[in-house]
Amino acid sequence: RKGNATKEQIRLHNLVQQLPRAIIIGVRKGGTRALLEMLNLHPAVVKASQEIHFFDNDQNYARGIDWYREKMPFSFPHQITIEKSPAYFITEEVPERIFKMNSSIKLLIIVREPTTRAVSDYTQVLEGKERKNKTYHKFEKLAIDSNTCEVNTKYKAVRTSIYTKHLERWLKYFPVEQFHIVDGDRLITDPLPELQLVERFLNLPSRISQYNLYFNATRGFYCLRFNIVFNKCLAGSKGRIHPEVDPSVVTKLQKFFHPFNQKFYQITGRTFSWP
Ligand code: A3P
Repeated sequence: RKGNATKEQIRLHNLVQQLPRAIIIGVRKGGTRALLEMLNLHPAVVKASQEIHFFDNDQNYARGIDWYREKMPFSFPHQITIEKSPAYFITEEVPERIFKMNSSIKLLIIVREPTTRAVSDYTQVLEGKERKNKTYHKFEKLAIDSNTCEVNTKYKAVRTSIYTKHLERWLKYFPVEQFHIVDGDRLITDPLPELQLVERFLNLPSRISQYNLYFNATRGFYCLRFNIVFNKCLAGSKGRIHPEVDPSVVTKLQKFFHPFNQKFYQITGRTFSWP
């Protein structure tokens, strides 16, 4: 297992804590955890297990870059470290801060069909409320403004799905070639081709294979096989059942996102079959 090195191993193998050379900056509920765990199947990739929230949290950021480095796992010098904190994508200050650390860092964004992502986002918040025995509004009430009957652009789950708006802020600092877009819907149904595209983007030899990914029918998702003895599925909080949403609200949201999606395709050069 990677990640838990003893002092002896650290000394013997010249293990180091390295700043990430690639960051999964978002998008929340896009499949960021699955992407990080799957990339970690690659022998040259080590992951920061926790979300570090260094660049989006002012208090953490004030602790400085050495604090950030100390949060990173031990690795061999030839390996690359990756972290994921989906809040980075939508937080105003983050692009500039990452640019100051490393202007040539590689940035990964995993997206899903925007309306599905918004419902997934809602479902996570709903589950949090239910855990605290609190009631919560229905998705329809949050997503649609009751006065105008238009899409409520103040609702965070809606705003996060306007991918182009956020990406455009990042493009003030980084050229578009420094981003790679991962299709989060395809990562669910057929992960390997998506992972191979990421390997290429990271200039890594192709090492993740079909052997490493097996469909678990009980879980309803692909799970990870590291080797003959070690395999795992993601936690149960990944792959929640979404509440049913009024179809007219779904259509309204899809129409709302459409022009933003077109812009996103145009900028990134990656087209999705979103409605
Ligand atoms: P749902 O819970 O809406 O199904 P994130 O890690 O960014 O929060 O994304 C969570 C989403 O990852 C889940 O959303 C799930 O659909 C998706 N996902 C992709 N591949 C998965 C996998 N192999 N196992 C579990 N969830 C996966």
